[in-house]
Amino acid sequence: MICVPITAITTAGALQEIQQAEEVADILELRIDYLADPDLAKLLAARKKPLIATNRKTDEGGKFPGTEAERLKLLEEAARLGAEYIDLEWSCGQEVIQRFKELTREGKSRIICSWHNFQETPQDLDQIYSSIKSTGADIIKIVTQATSINDNLRIFDLIAKAQADGQEIIALCMGPCGEISRILAPLLGAYLTFGSLRPGKESAPGQIEARTLRQVYRIGELKETDFRLYGLVGNPVSQSQGIYIHNRAFQHLQLDSLYVNFLVEDLASFMRDFKGYLCGLSVTMPYKQKIMDYLSEVDPIARRIGAVNTIVKRKNKLIGYNTDIIGAVQAIEAVTGIAEKRVVLLGAGGVARAIAYGIARQGGKLTILNRTPSRAQTLARELFCRSGGLEEIQDLEADILINGTSVGMAPQSDEMPVPASVLRPGMVVFDTVYHPATTRLLEEARARGCLTVSGVDMFLRQAAAQFALWTGFEAPVEVMRSALKW
Ligand SMILES: NC(=O)c1ccc[n+]([C@@H]2O[C@H](COP(=O)([O-])OP(=O)(O)OC[C@H]3O[C@@H](n4cnc5c(N)ncnc54)[C@H](OP(=O)(O)O)[C@@H]3O)[C@@H](O)[C@H]2O)c1
Repeated sequence: MICVPITAITTAGALQEIQQAEEVADILELRIDYLADPDLAKLLAARKKPLIATNRKTDEGGKFPGTEAERLKLLEEAARLGAEYIDLEWSCGQEVIQRFKELTREGKSRIICSWHNFQETPQDLDQIYSSIKSTGADIIKIVTQATSINDNLRIFDLIAKAQADGQEIIALCMGPCGEISRILAPLLGAYLTFGSLRPGKESAPGQIEARTLRQVYRIGELKETDFRLYGLVGNPVSQSQGIYIHNRAFQHLQLDSLYVNFLVEDLASFMRDFKGYLCGLSVTMPYKQKIMDYLSEVDPIARRIGAVNTIVKRKNKLIGYNTDIIGAVQAIEAVTGIAEKRVVLLGAGGVARAIAYGIARQGGKLTILNRTPSRAQTLARELFCRSGGLEEIQDLEADILINGTSVGMAPQSDEMPVPASVLRPGMVVFDTVYHPATTRLLEEARARGCLTVSGVDMFLRQAAAQFALWTGFEAPVEVMRSALKW
């Protein structure tokens, strides 16, 4: 279930938010502590969905400015008005919790006993869980700050423990490293997850928009506990488009699979502790090389390129591949053949290496030009082709020109790796840069009668190849394209 916090600062604003939130929420959380003029009778009468009444103290991350007695009085009023859930912090003490239990026994409200740690995910979670459980609250809520992605695993263990005890629990991690818990907790058996009404309306750090939880991550639709988990490992990962395209493809093919972003700082501990949960991974900077140390096998071409961007788990073994090579070749071949064509590749970094191997494999006559010519030379020696500095483009005839440098990438999107004068009608120009989708190089190339291939095409095709490796199904490329947020 998805719970949307109502965080307006006036009753009038909260009434509006309740109406909007009900389109996407299963449950509402009325944050009484945000309200300057809480008219609880009006607010509770207006809602159609079940409601949690929360009046958070400041030392538990809330905003309530009054005394403890005033704070509890508002919660009592909410209970009398029929709020389905009353959130009481464990720090209120047993006496207060007991008083509310008696009060709510007369009505319909259930008690959520909550505990927050905004600094860390402490080691003694089991002890905290047992102490809260002993209060006899209906639902236990434990929320911690994730300082590493592995903290989420302790929250997942806690959910499993509660399930074994037949105890309802809300458990998740806050912060960027805790984002995955907000997606995975309800799928692993937690009572609910929180989702914001819209960006800017988060009631806690790392809260994901409720619409994204429902539409991208399919919370409420995916089968709980029985799903296959994939994701992107990297740092940073927040700009990734993988969550949109892979999840849309899973949905299109009705697969009980999910793709999330893993923001990883310590690759060794991530690979050790998450392996059991994973069915496959995409890999991005800065781990495309380092990840090979944690794999049982690496595909020979990925080994030669020196980079893995895809991992598949088969028979509990992690196997590494490079699908950038397929993505680039397929994107070009959708426009022109490569064999015997004169191909000039600009760049000698990670993406250029994969493309160079792809061009050589398809029989293209390759020349590699790079700002630092020695790097181009090293790559050219591996592939027995020519190399030079970027300025040598002026003396070359190319059928296919590929930009494998980062020149032209936002925010420097008015830059070009080579002057427009080298672009001739009929030439195929491929820019691997995908942000922006149409770079200045591609604009100039189109204006001069060249055929163009965009980095978005390569990105989609490398993702489609990943999808096929993971699932065994042909990827619905056009469905994936329609899910892009660029
Ligand atoms: N479409 C896709 O699916 C896809 C996939 C991956 C990457 N990409 C894009 O490919 C581009 C390169 O990524 P990468 O991973 O290969 O990066 P990388 O390993 O850091 O390599 C960067 C390359 O760009 C060159 N370069 C950087 N700044 C330059 C400048 N001001 N003038 C001339 N050359 C310059 C570097 O030359 P030096 O050797 O002289 O430093 C190097 O050849 C990025 O824009 C990335 O977004 C696209």
